[in-house]
Amino acid sequence: MDGRTAAVLSQFVLFCLRVLRAEDGGGWSSDFSLQDEGLCNMDVFDGRSLSYQHFIDRYAYSRPVIFRGLTDNAKFQLLCSKSNLLRHYGGRRVRLSTANTYSYRKVDVPFQEYVDRFLKPQSTNALGSDTLYFFGDNNFTEWQSLFEHYEAPPYALPHTSGAYSFGIAGPGTGVPFHWHGPGFSEVVHGRKRWFLYPPDKEPHFHPNHTTLSWVTETYPHLPEDEAPLECTIRPGEVLFFPDRWWHATLNLDTSVFISTFLG
Ligand SMILES: *[C@@H]1O[C@H](CO)[C@@H](O)[C@H](O)[C@H]1NC(C)=O
Ligand SMILES: *[C@@H]1O[C@H](CO)[C@@H](O)[C@H](O)[C@H]1NC(C)=O
Repeated sequence: MDGRTAAVLSQFVLFCLRVLRAEDGGGWSSDFSLQDEGLCNMDVFDGRSLSYQHFIDRYAYSRPVIFRGLTDNAKFQLLCSKSNLLRHYGGRRVRLSTANTYSYRKVDVPFQEYVDRFLKPQSTNALGSDTLYFFGDNNFTEWQSLFEHYEAPPYALPHTSGAYSFGIAGPGTGVPFHWHGPGFSEVVHGRKRWFLYPPDKEPHFHPNHTTLSWVTETYPHLPEDEAPLECTIRPGEVLFFPDRWWHATLNLDTSVFISTFLG
C-alpha cells in the first residue's frame, strides 16, 4: 500500500469511527438521560466567526460565550470512548470529590471501580455533599498520554497558561454554583447544561444541594430579573467563563468533559 492509499484509508476509518461515536456517545450513553436542554440565551459563534480580537474586546473580561467547532477533537473523542479509557486507565486510581460548592471530601478509587460503582444517575434525594464526582485532581503523569491529544481552545487570555481538568459523570450530576478564575469547558461526550451569573449577582442556592435539586425546586420560581444566562453544550462546543462568574452545571447524559483553567 502506498502512502496516499494509506492516508485515504486512515481517513475513511476515522470517518467510520466518527459515525459510530456520534451514535453511541463513545459507549457512555445509558438508558437514563435528562431531556430538558432548557433555553440558550447566550452568544454562540461558529468556528472562528468571532475573531480573537473581538473575543478579547467583547467577552474575555466581561461575558461568557460559546464556540462551536473552534477546535477539532474528533481523535480525542475516540480516545475517550468507554472501552478505550477502561482498557488503558481502568487500573489507575482517580480522586473523587464531593459535588458541592466547597468540596470537602476526597476519595481515591481505581477508575474501573468508579465506572462500575459510582457512575450512575444522580438520585434526586441525595445531597451534593454526599455525591462523589470525578472531575479534576488528575494525575498528569498517568493521564499525559491522553491529554496530549486534546486540542485546547486557541483563544487563551494574555499572560495566562492553561491547566486541564478532566472528568466523567452520570446523568443528572453536576456541580452547584461556585466561581473561580477564567477558562474554557468542552464536552467530549454527552450534553452539559450550564447556568451562569455575573460576579456581583450571587444566585440563591444551598452549597450542599445538587444542581438537579436547584433546577427542579428553585429555577422554576426565579423572578425574571434573577434569570441566569444558560445553554446546553454538546460535543464540539466549548463554553468560556470569565473570571469570578458564578456557574452551575448539570450533565444531561453520562458526560465526558475537560476544562482548561487559565491562570
Ligand atoms: C501520579 O502517578 C505516578 C505514577 O503512577 C505516581 O508515581 C505519583 O505518585 C502520582 N502522583 C500523585 C500526586 O498522586
Ligand atoms: C455542608 O456539608 C458539610 C459536610 O457534610 C458540612 O460540614 C457543612 O456544615 C454543610 N454546610 C451547610 C451550609 O449546610
